[in-house]
Amino acid sequence: MTDWIARWKNGEIGWHKDRVNARLIAFIDCLELQQGDLVFVPLCGKSQDMMYLLECGFRVIGVELSALAIEQFFDENQLNYSKHQSGQFKVYQAENISLYCGDYFALNKMLLSAVSAVYDRAALVALDGDLRTKYAIHLYAIIPNGCRILLLTLNYPQTQISGPPYAVNAKEVRLLFTKFEYRQLECFNDIDNEPKFQNEGVDFIEKVTYCLHKK
Ligand SMILES: C[S@@+](CC[C@H](N)C(=O)[O-])C[C@H]1O[C@@H](n2cnc3c(N)ncnc32)[C@H](O)[C@@H]1O
Repeated sequence: MTDWIARWKNGEIGWHKDRVNARLIAFIDCLELQQGDLVFVPLCGKSQDMMYLLECGFRVIGVELSALAIEQFFDENQLNYSKHQSGQFKVYQAENISLYCGDYFALNKMLLSAVSAVYDRAALVALDGDLRTKYAIHLYAIIPNGCRILLLTLNYPQTQISGPPYAVNAKEVRLLFTKFEYRQLECFNDIDNEPKFQNEGVDFIEKVTYCLHKK
């Protein structure tokens, strides 16, 4: 965990994109959201995708270890926010968005009882093997029945380069989310747009999108 805090402090945030993720735009409909619905963004960083969700008329609840990331999110998007303490979390709030600063694994079911959907980009794949299992078990435990998840993953030969982001193949996704209804929406090789992987001689990097449903 200290590693993530240090990355934010040192500005080593190569995963962060200044534009909205194209797969969120392409597949948001699979979440079957209504205006005003609440979307949970685990390990949210300062993702611009949260601004897109707000602009679409949804509400957002996120969790992020780094206070710096959260403060940068609000400052860079010129959103006025207030802060309060709630249990183990410092909560940063602006209109239609609450970002909980603290550990994802400390979130409980009550806090997420109003959530309709989850958006996971670079959350599952940020975690190493054991933590991914813990992440999926915890997610199932804290989100309500009926919740849908838009999950974006990466898969590449893990022997050719180390994570994060970690390679998570379709078999692992199936195993991790065995209690969910599961649909793969898209899978393509994006090696041409990944110079870091190309420079390391990685053969391919698949970007895979799933829609999961907790029945
Ligand atoms: C790879 S980044 C992805 C951020 C964001 N989802 C995005 O798409 O830009 C992973 C983020 O998870 C945060 N993080 C890691 N472990 C966490 C935990 N246990 N609880 C909350 N946040 C965590 C890190 O600080 C980091 O900002």
